Amino acid sequence: MEALKNVKILDFTHVQSGPTCTQLLAWFGADVIKVERPGVGDATRKQLVDVPGADSLYFTMLNHNKRSITLNTKDATGKEILERLVKECDVLVENFAPGALDRMCFGWERIQELNPRMIMASVKGFGPGKYEDCKVYENVAQCAGGSASTTGFLDGPPLVTGAQIGDSGTGLHLALGIVAALYQREQTGRGQKVLASMQDGVINLSRVKLRDQQRLAAGPLTEYSQFGEGIPFGDATPRAGNDSGGGQPGRILKCKGWETDPNAYTYFITQAPAWEKICDVIGEPEWKTKEGYAKPPQRLDKLNEIFDRIEQWTMTKTKFEVMDICNPLDIPVGPILSMKEIAEDEGLRATGTIVEVDHPERGPYLTVGCPVKLSDSPAVVTRSPLLGEHTAEVLRDVLGYQGEEFDRVVASGAVGELRVEAAE
Ligand code: COA
Repeated sequence: MEALKNVKILDFTHVQSGPTCTQLLAWFGADVIKVERPGVGDATRKQLVDVPGADSLYFTMLNHNKRSITLNTKDATGKEILERLVKECDVLVENFAPGALDRMCFGWERIQELNPRMIMASVKGFGPGKYEDCKVYENVAQCAGGSASTTGFLDGPPLVTGAQIGDSGTGLHLALGIVAALYQREQTGRGQKVLASMQDGVINLSRVKLRDQQRLAAGPLTEYSQFGEGIPFGDATPRAGNDSGGGQPGRILKCKGWETDPNAYTYFITQAPAWEKICDVIGEPEWKTKEGYAKPPQRLDKLNEIFDRIEQWTMTKTKFEVMDICNPLDIPVGPILSMKEIAEDEGLRATGTIVEVDHPERGPYLTVGCPVKLSDSPAVVTRSPLLGEHTAEVLRDVLGYQGEEFDRVVASGAVGELRVEAAE
């Protein structure tokens, strides 16, 4: 059985943040009905196209296990169908620009009138306040959430990260809020509004940097490389390069082949309990007892020298050899894996984290499967729907439109052109 069996999701999401959320819910077993504009659909279907005529990977990789119906929600018959969907579903998820649902005449009050059990879940760029009306995209959230100011090197500009913490990160937050609201509804019988703002999500993921902001009042942040280098701190949490966030000195170091392979690097942490083993591995056994090297605080002003020495050793090994040698000794290291290596990783294929999916328009492609594994509710990844693939099916089976009524709503044009196979 699937964890969210019988939960119906009215999925009004588009682009990345909302679709990540509803994809997770679909993997947990919810019936996710994605509503898209007739003839147009989610804008990402036709963004970053690699196979002409086919849905893009941008779309397919964010919309697995869903059904797609097309519906013009600004048309009178479209509104009638939408009303039925609201009555039928448990959760409405949306990430429209602020105010769009109200303009469609489906704001929170109307939704509650139609279905008091409905949970209405939204991603917005900002929470209530002076920026609440802004449209927001990934990198805006990374910047406004404090991540960019703390990412990058001290002598360079703020940097955004490759991980989509603003979009996918907020989708994850929203999914948790929805599941909590479903649980509460079991007791109260009532739905509620769930809001995840992208700025809030990024701030939550940047929590340790606000920790450091407050620690600055008590003096310099001694675990930051800049402390050992004698560079004074300003009044805000600085960019920390590749320092580790947890207080243990760490760096990214070159490995064998770095001259030609941009990813021949390892992360290396000089964790205090592993210090003696590190000294032995790199061939500096005297550092175990040497004054100025033996104790962690004494090493802080020598981190550049120490990591240079460790790097001399890592450059003689591949990043995987470094892993194989250090892991058994409990020295924390990690290879810098390229996306190519991840795509080809047999272990990730075996666990279902990397999955190959077939698609009628584009053939087989790779995707990221469900990153959370439930032992009693395994996620089986199925391909994303074609635009409007399930319009007829949902009208008939979920909403009960039959015979003349079915013909009337189709003839109204509110659901666009039915796919030929579905119309029969
Ligand atoms: N039928 C008819 N109209 C529809 C429709 C449908 N099925 N689906 C959407 N629309 C309409 C909306 O009602 C809206 O109309 P309005 O502006 O007249 O009210 C219009 O399409 C555009 O929707 P909107 O969400 O505003 O898209 P956008 O391209 O202008 O903005 C974002 C895109 C992502 C910037 C914006 O949706 C946003 O800020 N979302 C919240 C934050 C977010 O999720 N950002 C990250 C995205 S990964």
